[in-house]
Amino acid sequence: MNLVFLGPPGVGKGSLAVRIAKDYGLLHISTGEMLRAEISAGTHTGKLAEKYINDGNLMPDSLIIEMLLSKLQHSTAKQGYILDGFPRTLNQAQELDKFVQIDAAINLDAPEAVLLKRISHRRICPVCGKGYISYMMSSNLCEQCGVEVIMRDDDKEEVVKARLVEYHTKTEPIIDYYRSTGKLISVDGDDTMEGVAAKVEEILEDLKLANN
Ligand code: AP5
Ligand code: MG
Repeated sequence: MNLVFLGPPGVGKGSLAVRIAKDYGLLHISTGEMLRAEISAGTHTGKLAEKYINDGNLMPDSLIIEMLLSKLQHSTAKQGYILDGFPRTLNQAQELDKFVQIDAAINLDAPEAVLLKRISHRRICPVCGKGYISYMMSSNLCEQCGVEVIMRDDDKEEVVKARLVEYHTKTEPIIDYYRSTGKLISVDGDDTMEGVAAKVEEILEDLKLANN
C-alpha cells in the first residue's frame, strides 16, 4: 500500500503516520522531518530549508520533488509507504503520479481553532525528534533521550499563520486533484488520536480487501 496523508499544519498527519506505519509495516516518509534532519546536519539543503520553513513558506517544488523521488528510489520498503507532507502542490502531486502508484490519499481536516491549539502544545525532542503534547508531560524531558523538549521554530504564532495561508492557497487545491483521480478519502481529524486512528484503520482494511 502506498498512501498519502494530506491536511493542514497540526491536524495530526505525523502522529497518525507513525502509528499506522508501525501497525501496517509501512515506511513513514515525512518531507518535513527530512528537511529538519538536513537543517540539523548543516547541509546546503538544510541552510536553504531553514529560511523557507522559518518564514512559513513551502520549499521550491524542484528541490523537494528531487529529494522525495531520490528517497523513494532508495527505499527498501517492500510493503509500501506513507507520504506525510508530500505532495503539497498540484505540481508535486502530478510529478508523483508519473513515478509511483498511490492507492489512497487520506485527507484529515479539523477547524482552525483545533489546529492552533494542537500546534501551541506540540513539543519535540531536539535529539530524536519524538513528539509530545505539553500538557500531557510529567516533566519537560524526552523519555528516550533525557534532554529538554523544545517547540519547533515554525510553531510560533506568526509563522503558523503564514503556513496556514500557504496551505489554503497551494495545498488545498490538490484535494480536488485526488478527488478527480478517485483516490481521495476524507477523515474528520477533530477527534481523539484513537478515534482518528480507528477510522483510518477501518478504511485501510477495506482497501486491503478491495486490492485482494
Ligand atoms: P511539516 O513538518 O510537514 O509540517 P506541517 O505540514 O505544517 O504539519 P505539522 O507537522 O505541523 O502537523 P501534523 O499534521 O504532522 O501534526 P502532528 O501529528 O505533529 O513541514 C514543515 C515545513 O517543511 C513546511 O512548512 C515547508 O516549509 C516544508 N515542507 C515540508 N514538506 C514540503 C513539501 N512537500 N513541499 C514544500 N515544502 C515542504 O500533530 C500536531 C500536534 O497535535 C502534536 O502535538 C500531536 O501530538 C497533537 N495531535 C495529533 N493528533 C491529535 C488528536 N487527534 N488529538 C489531540 N492532539 C493531537
Ligand atoms: Mg508533521
